[in-house]
Order: sequence, then C-alpha cells, then structure tokens
Amino acid sequence: MADELTPETPEEEQAKKKHKQRKNGLYPGVSEELAESMRTGWADTELHGLEPIAQAAHTAARRAALSARFPGERLVVPAGRLKTRSNDSEYAFRASTEYAYLTGDQTENGVLVLEPTGESGHTATVYLLPRSNRENGEFWLSGNGELWVGRRHSLTEAEQLLGLPAKDVRELAEELTEAEGPVRVLRGHDTVIATALTDKVTKERDAELRVYLSEARVVKDEFEIGELQKAVDSTVRGFEDVVKVLDKAEATSERYIEGTFFLRARVEGNDVGYGSICAAGPHATTLHWVRNDGDVRSGDLLLLDAGVETHTLYTADVTRTLPISGTYTDIQRKIYDAVYASQEAGIAAVKPGAKFRDFHDASQYVLAEKLVEWGLLEGPVERVVELGLQRRWTLHGTGHMLGMDVHDCAAARTEAYVDGTLEPGMCLTVEPGLYFQADDLTVPEEFRGIGVRIEDDILVTEDGNRNLSDGLPRTSEEIEAWMARLKG
Ligand code: GLY
Ligand code: MN
Ligand code: MN
Repeated sequence: MADELTPETPEEEQAKKKHKQRKNGLYPGVSEELAESMRTGWADTELHGLEPIAQAAHTAARRAALSARFPGERLVVPAGRLKTRSNDSEYAFRASTEYAYLTGDQTENGVLVLEPTGESGHTATVYLLPRSNRENGEFWLSGNGELWVGRRHSLTEAEQLLGLPAKDVRELAEELTEAEGPVRVLRGHDTVIATALTDKVTKERDAELRVYLSEARVVKDEFEIGELQKAVDSTVRGFEDVVKVLDKAEATSERYIEGTFFLRARVEGNDVGYGSICAAGPHATTLHWVRNDGDVRSGDLLLLDAGVETHTLYTADVTRTLPISGTYTDIQRKIYDAVYASQEAGIAAVKPGAKFRDFHDASQYVLAEKLVEWGLLEGPVERVVELGLQRRWTLHGTGHMLGMDVHDCAAARTEAYVDGTLEPGMCLTVEPGLYFQADDLTVPEEFRGIGVRIEDDILVTEDGNRNLSDGLPRTSEEIEAWMARLKG
C-alpha cells in the first residue's frame, strides 16, 4: 500500500533496479538489440514419447485411496518452495514427502490438487512451473529462469512422465482463491498456496489430511521395499568407504567421515536422509551429534549413524559402533555385546501380529538385565523396567517406522502406530543403545565416555522379519574381521 501511495525518489528507484539486476546476475543496461537477440535463435527441444517414471504405476492407486477418504472435498498437497539460506542463496530443495508420495514428482513449487468430481471421486492435476518464456525474457532475466537453474520439463512432458494432467502453477493461487466448496491443504510447505486458502481451511480439518497421509504410508508396497533396499545397500557401501579411510579421519577429524559417507550418498542417491552422526569417543553419548568436528582417536569407538536417501526419496537409517583401531577393548566389547544381545531380542520380537511396542520392551529388558548384572542398578529387573531406571543410560526409544522420512509416518495416530500391531510391509528400525556420559559419576570410570548403538532396518514379512541391512556385520567379532579385511 505504502509503495503505491508514496512516490519513490529517483535514488530509491535506482537502488531497487540495481538490486534486481544484481539478483539476476546482470550488468545494467540490457539493450533492446540484446533483448531481441535473446528472444530468438533457439532450437525446439521438446521431448516426445517419454516413458512414465517407475512410481507412476503406484501413485495413481495412492491418489485413489486419498480420494476415497475425502469424498467431495478439494485436496491440495504442495511440494514446497526454495528456502533462503542467506542473501540470495538457497538450501538444496527437497520436495515434501507427501507430494512426492502422491505424484512421484520432486520439483519445487509443484502442487497436487484433487478436484472433487461430485459426491465421490476426484480429478487429479499437478500444477508445475512450465518451461521459461523466451518471448518476455523470463528464461534469462528471471532468477528462476531456465538459463540460470537448468531446463525444466514442459507441462506436456510432465504429463507423460507422471501420468496425470499438468497445469501452470502460477495460475493456481488465483484458482484456489476463487474456488468454492470444502478444501483441505497440507500445511507447512507453501506460503503462497496457504495464503490463497486462508479463509477456506481449518487447522483441524487440515490435520486430518496430514494424519491420513502419514498412516497411508505405514505399510510399504513392493516398489517402496525395493527402494528401501537400494537405500540400505548404498548405505552399506558408505560404511565400507568410511572404514577404509579411518586413518585419514584420524589425521583430520570426524568431518572426514561425514564427507566420505556424503560422497557415496550423492553419487548413488539423492542425498543423506538425515544429518550423519559421526561421533567418535565421548561424542557417541550425544544422541544427535551432527557437528562432527571432533578428533578421531585410535582406541576410541566411532558411532556412525547414517543413511543414503535414494533418488526416489527413500532413506536408510543404520548405525554401527566401530573400534577405530579395529579391535574393541574389554570394556568396549562388554558394552557392545550387551547392546547386541538387546538388539537380537528386539529383532526377534518383530513379526506380524506383535504389538509395535514389543520389540522396544524386549530390548529394554535385556539392557536392564545387563545393568543389574554389572551392579549399576539394583534388581530385580522387573522393578527396574517398571520404574524405567535403565533409561538413564538407554535414553531413547528402540525404533521407529522408516520410509521416505527417517522418522516416517510421524503424524499417524497413536492407535495406528505406537499402540498398533505390526503387519507385513511395515519397515522399522531396531536400535537399542547404551550411553555413559563422560561426567556420569554413578558409573565406574572405565564406562564413562562410551556410547554404543546398533541400528538395523527391519522389514516385517508374512512369517517374521527380514533385516534389510544385514549386509553389514553386527557381532563384535564379525565387525573386527570385516574391518581387518577392509583396512587391508
Ligand atoms: N538417525 C536418527 C535415528 O536413528 O532415529
Ligand atoms: Mn539412526
Ligand atoms: Mn533411527
């Protein structure tokens, strides 16, 4: 408003113009001749006869299930927009899980809209940025023009790839503002879309959409299981890479480990699925140690918790706690073997029909037993577990659903997840740990500063479970033999 009413001084106008030009990376003074030159002389690069992406065979069924859950309502699921890192630099873009799950697309600004066709049924349309306009100079004068950020698919190409109609997203906000009837939006990803819908949506109704989209992903289909296995397989290779460069990490810092794993993630996948935890020595007792700027010392343990995210956005979540020298000390082995026994009990409890909490309870019981056996807690074990006394050193839950998000399906209702029953196709982590803080005066000195976690990705099958990450050794002896082999 103020902008319209207050005339700009020539200085202000000049400053604004300069800022805009800097943002576009242009020098001042684009002549009409240059503008005309940039308009023409470009080949037609439209691609024809594109094959649908692999996810397209599955996304239609997912949209149909969503449609059946919310008949007669307009549903809006945005991918999200670029987020500023600093000044005019942006963070790497990662589409919202829900949008990617329903469309297979991962481009910024994309929005899926399910338009009700009556009392039941919807028409799905994906709204995208089209190719950049060359006529008005957008393709080279605008910050998100293709000359700067790379070629996008045309809407026709996107339709072939995704298997659903595509429209220009720049027209969507206005369409939504004018639209009538009930609407729900997936919040938190796109402020432009959220603003267009402010007067039409409620928090409670939007929360139901979010909950549905979490619960719909609890059981994975064959395609998803295949992608999770790919994520885990790349992760296994990333762990092997790390073992091979431990001497370089010793000469530098935990960052060398982070960088080594990241290289594998970027070369074979999209990214890491979460910030890698590369925790050497006492850092292993800090659950989310992602600063990764500490020393790596022979004689200490390295707790490496890392996962590759595939190009289709499925992530692994694996932890191994390795002796940096290649051999566990007696106290390290004692703690490691206890965590291993706990994980074994947890994995054995993962089967169809079991409660989700069972594997947590089984793992915790074993850890409590060990803590009593070592004299750190007074028994009986049942009392310890009932009062949760072991938690001073076990700290976190024993696992979570895994999928496109590392902590997958987080908006699911308690009854559909934490208080639910395991079914074939669910994938979860089993990740018990023991953590003795360096300043914990309640444990003997030799325990202090030691943290151990073992984490595997477990698929519930018809008759039990399958460990997707069994490409990595788990027992202390197997770990030592594997490290000796890799270190050569
Ligand atoms: N990497 C996070 C977790 O294990 O849950
Ligand atoms: Mn983890
Ligand atoms: Mn985990």
